[in-house]
Amino acid sequence: MKIGVLVGREATFPPALINEINSRNAGITAEYIRLGGVQMAEPCEYAVIIDRISHEVPFYRAYLKNATLAGTIVINNPFWWTADDKFFNYALATDMGIAVPRTVLLPQKDYKEGVVSESLRNLKYPLDWEEIMDHIGFPAFMKPYDGGGWRGVSRINNWEELFEKYNESGTDCMVLQEYVAFDHYVRTYTIGKKDVWPMPYDPIHQRYLVVPDYLEPDVHDRCCSEAIAICEALGYDINTVEFAIKDGVPYAIDYMNPAPDADWWSVGSVYFKWMVEKVADLAIRTAQEGKSSIGELRWSEFLNMRVVGKGE
Ligand SMILES: Nc1ncnc2c1ncn2[C@@H]1O[C@H](COP(=O)(O)OP(=O)(O)O)[C@@H](O)[C@H]1O
Ligand SMILES: [Mg+2]
Repeated sequence: MKIGVLVGREATFPPALINEINSRNAGITAEYIRLGGVQMAEPCEYAVIIDRISHEVPFYRAYLKNATLAGTIVINNPFWWTADDKFFNYALATDMGIAVPRTVLLPQKDYKEGVVSESLRNLKYPLDWEEIMDHIGFPAFMKPYDGGGWRGVSRINNWEELFEKYNESGTDCMVLQEYVAFDHYVRTYTIGKKDVWPMPYDPIHQRYLVVPDYLEPDVHDRCCSEAIAICEALGYDINTVEFAIKDGVPYAIDYMNPAPDADWWSVGSVYFKWMVEKVADLAIRTAQEGKSSIGELRWSEFLNMRVVGKGE
């Protein structure tokens, strides 16, 4: 059996993962996938594919969806990843009883060519900004509903900055969110919906920190169980769920990270080793179980939420 790995620029994680899988001698080998033209419904030689890059390369995404028809299990599910967005994530977590900063979805500032004012007759104009800001309050965060890697994320302190950033957002669909004045921040890596580690993270300098007992035990446990519940509901096998923690309450900030940073230079050796091991475990386990993922790819299997929130 074979495990295929699809990669982007990252230099350290993919080779370490491939080495780890191959060194387990589990009768399963891992390698980089090589692709040219893809025939529809062609067989796929991989039992499992670990996808780190199809969010940036539509050709890869289309190849991966085709591969699922051949019985390959793709991690993460390329269908759901295609459909997901941050605003939906926030709404879903709210329904699950997880603390989420108050968030409003905004109509886009601009539209692609050909969308003219008659195309937009369902939109209220002008927007009731007073009402929106009464709900969210200053300071606020504005970010694209499909963003990642800090793209287009800004902190908004006043009306002037609000309109400046909104005008700059162009055709991006934005969300506006209550600011959480956090005292702790973690990126909770969640692998196979079971292995979980809330890693202390300095979001300003974008640095991972190794700090023993960083969180109070109950907050730590809550981050773990809520991160797993979110990944179960969204169907992600690999994800990092970011929590901004204020006064002991973890607020779920960002959990659409299905190819989370795993570079040695960024995460550091302790977390890197854990991720390589856990993703190798997951890939091998999935290949051995060999269940076709087709059933899980049906929409009715998604969004089976369980309520986990403890209330405040
Ligand atoms: N509501 C918020 N309150 C406080 N800080 C926030 C909030 N939303 C985002 N941030 C900060 O901005 C960073 C980037 O935002 P995030 O939603 O994680 O977007 P991205 O997907 O680009 O990483 C976060 O790591 C956090 O430091
Ligand atoms: Mg983030």
